[in-house]
Amino acid sequence: MKQQQAQKNIESQPYDCRVFANATDAEMEAARLIKSFVTSSTKPVLGLATGRTMLPVYQWLRQWHALGELSFAQCVSFNLDEYCGLDADDPSSFASYMRTNFFDHIDMPSGHWHLPDAAATSGTPHTYDDLIHTNGGIGLQLLGIGRNGHIGFNEPGAEQNTRTHEVALTASTRAANAADFPEGTAVPTHAITMGISTILEAGNIVLLATGQGKAEALHQAFNGLVSAACPASYLQLHTNVTVICDEAAAQFLKVHS
Ligand code: F6R
Repeated sequence: MKQQQAQKNIESQPYDCRVFANATDAEMEAARLIKSFVTSSTKPVLGLATGRTMLPVYQWLRQWHALGELSFAQCVSFNLDEYCGLDADDPSSFASYMRTNFFDHIDMPSGHWHLPDAAATSGTPHTYDDLIHTNGGIGLQLLGIGRNGHIGFNEPGAEQNTRTHEVALTASTRAANAADFPEGTAVPTHAITMGISTILEAGNIVLLATGQGKAEALHQAFNGLVSAACPASYLQLHTNVTVICDEAAAQFLKVHS
């Protein structure tokens, strides 16, 4: 399989930024980083994301698994977020998304993958975070980015010192995700998301952004100040972030010299 070279490596950035000519090459690079993490670790603990951006990434991973190049048998995974009030079997839930697009097609044992649910925020204070720690912590966290700069469902205003918790979704996020729900069905108003601290504790973070709709958010996240107004800007505080994007998403990213 041909591996594409990034058109531009913005190496002088405090993070590794790889810009590809098109979305397909960027998606493949994100999948390739996951593959290399999974094959090089004895117990890979993955942090996973949903959303349209990730669909081709899961396609690559499924394909490599089908070809016998990649096994997830030793993997454990933790998804970033889930809607409140949806049954795991609801086709619009992130649990369904993950089963349909990934888990049903690979060899990760069913008890190894996790999504946050109401139990994650009840009982002992940080149940989901505790489970992540018990499993040795997330080695590689895959992230998308919302047009408003959210990561997971940490919406603008999110504080840095947060763990898995319930959040209210903004109108713009609910509108952006409306297409994933049957016509006439309201997008849930709340979700449970890993917090910013939870995300920043991952050993490595891979953020994938494609399309011009993400250009402004990417610019705010990495060229602006660290600020709750753009939750993705907290990633500037992490030392192992790889940003993978196409030229459309990178159009406002400034190269520091
Ligand atoms: C999904 C998630 C979100 C998405 C973001 C981008 O688990 O955590 O932060 O990554 O909303 O979504 P898409 O890729 O649909 O534009």
